[in-house]
Amino acid sequence: MNNDIKKILISEEDIQRRVKQLGEEISRDFAGKNLLMVGVLKGSVVFMADLMRYITVPCEIDFMAVSSYGAGTSTSGVVKIIKDLSNPIEGYDVLVIEDILDSGVTLSYLLELLKTKGAKSISLATMLDKPERRKKEVKLDYKGFEVPDEFVVGYGLDYDEKYRNLPYIGVLKPEIYSK
Ligand code: IMP
Ligand code: MG
Repeated sequence: MNNDIKKILISEEDIQRRVKQLGEEISRDFAGKNLLMVGVLKGSVVFMADLMRYITVPCEIDFMAVSSYGAGTSTSGVVKIIKDLSNPIEGYDVLVIEDILDSGVTLSYLLELLKTKGAKSISLATMLDKPERRKKEVKLDYKGFEVPDEFVVGYGLDYDEKYRNLPYIGVLKPEIYSK
C-alpha cells in the first residue's frame, strides 16, 4: 500500500469485479445503438479505460475537459470548457463517464450543455457516488460504488494531481493535507 494512504476503501479486486458488471450491463443496454463514451478529463481516464474493455458492443470514445469557476462564482454552477469534443455527437447514444458524482454542479451543467447538441440519448456512468454532498439533482444511470462524505483518491481521483495511478480507492493520511 502507498505510504500516504490511511486506509483502502475499495480494493482493486472489488473495483475490477464491479466494473466488469457495469460493462456487461452497458453492453446489454446499448446493443444495436450507436454508443459514444465521453470521458471527462482527467479523473475518468482510469475508469473509462477499464470499463471500455468490458464493453462488447461497438463503441467510440471522445473526451472533454472542464473546470469549475473559482469560489467566488461557484454558486452560479457555470463550468468552463477547457477542451471540447473532437467531433459532433449528433445521432449518437452518448454515455458520459466521470470519476465521481459529488455536488453534481459540474455534471448537471455538462449534461445540460450536451443535451443541446443533438445526441439521440445521453446517459451517465460514474465510478463513485457521494450522495451526501449533492447540491444539484443529477440522474445517474450507472454507478460503481457509493462512498461516504470523505475525500478519496486513487483509480483516477487525485489530491493535488497526485494518486490517480493507485489501482484502489483510499483515504489519505491527515498529515498529507497539512503539508
Ligand atoms: P462536483 O460534482 O461538481 O462537485 O465535482 C466533482 C468533481 O470534484 C469530480 O470530478 C472530482 O474531480 C472532484 N472530487 C469530488 N470529490 C472528490 C474526492 O473525494 N476525491 C477527489 N476528487 C473529488
Ligand atoms: Mg474530475
